[in-house]
Amino acid sequence: MTRILHLSDTHVSASGPDMDGVDAVAALDQILLDARHVPDLDAVVVSGDIADDGSAAGCQMVLDRIGSFAAERGIPHIYSTGNHDARDPFRTVLGSGHLGPDGADRGEPLAPEADLCAAVSHLGGLRVITLDSLVPGSVHGLLDEHQLERLPATLADPAPAGTILVFHHPPLHLAWVPNVARVVLQNIADLEQVVRGSDVRAILTGHLHFQLSGQLAGIPVWVTPGVVTRIDTTAPPHLVRGVLGAGATVVELPDGADPAFHVLVARDPRAGEQVYLYDAASGAEVVEPP
Ligand SMILES: [Fe+2]
Repeated sequence: MTRILHLSDTHVSASGPDMDGVDAVAALDQILLDARHVPDLDAVVVSGDIADDGSAAGCQMVLDRIGSFAAERGIPHIYSTGNHDARDPFRTVLGSGHLGPDGADRGEPLAPEADLCAAVSHLGGLRVITLDSLVPGSVHGLLDEHQLERLPATLADPAPAGTILVFHHPPLHLAWVPNVARVVLQNIADLEQVVRGSDVRAILTGHLHFQLSGQLAGIPVWVTPGVVTRIDTTAPPHLVRGVLGAGATVVELPDGADPAFHVLVARDPRAGEQVYLYDAASGAEVVEPP
């Protein structure tokens, strides 16, 4: 059994709050506090949008907190990039993104020839591969040819307990929420070809700020809720409503059985309070809640 605390979208800036004024540090502190009773964790995984402004200082504040949570438990902590992150500051603070309990870098680059934050490490027999779906300046995600070329060679040698992939942009569609299609991974079919028939047991992603599950080539795909805010999809589909409320997932990968994904919700009395409401097509702020 491997048990992972899966976080995403911490969005801590150099000064702390995210671009919407949410206290991102407090949200992270709260979910880590409320996850303290989860027993026997093997790792913490963070699937991108570490720093809201891409800054090294934002990455460092996240690392300080998650690093100490992991150090207390003697477990690794693993990070991938998101659309808000920037590769150089990410590397400066988080290295390969695969850090040991003591903060030492334990990742091997997936495609050393490329300017990517994609790496491989192992949790016992389980192989963890972070991919880099960041497209600088864009909200959507893409896996470039370097990663798509290297992955098949890596996956050709199955790991004893299989592999999990961690990256930011979900390889999923959700047609009834129009905003989703333009922000998710844009080359889903390319990844589908690579993972079909492989030892990949689960694909862990974030970015949407709401939980969602689906499959890619029969492999479970999980979108963990965001730490900094939740997108409330009870808004009319053409609007995007962000509300307070940090979430996380406990991912369980039993030996010889399929994974399970369990959502933790932070004990925040202000959860559900609206932070922003904007038009999905134009991005214009909507003042009056419908
Ligand atoms: Fe994102």
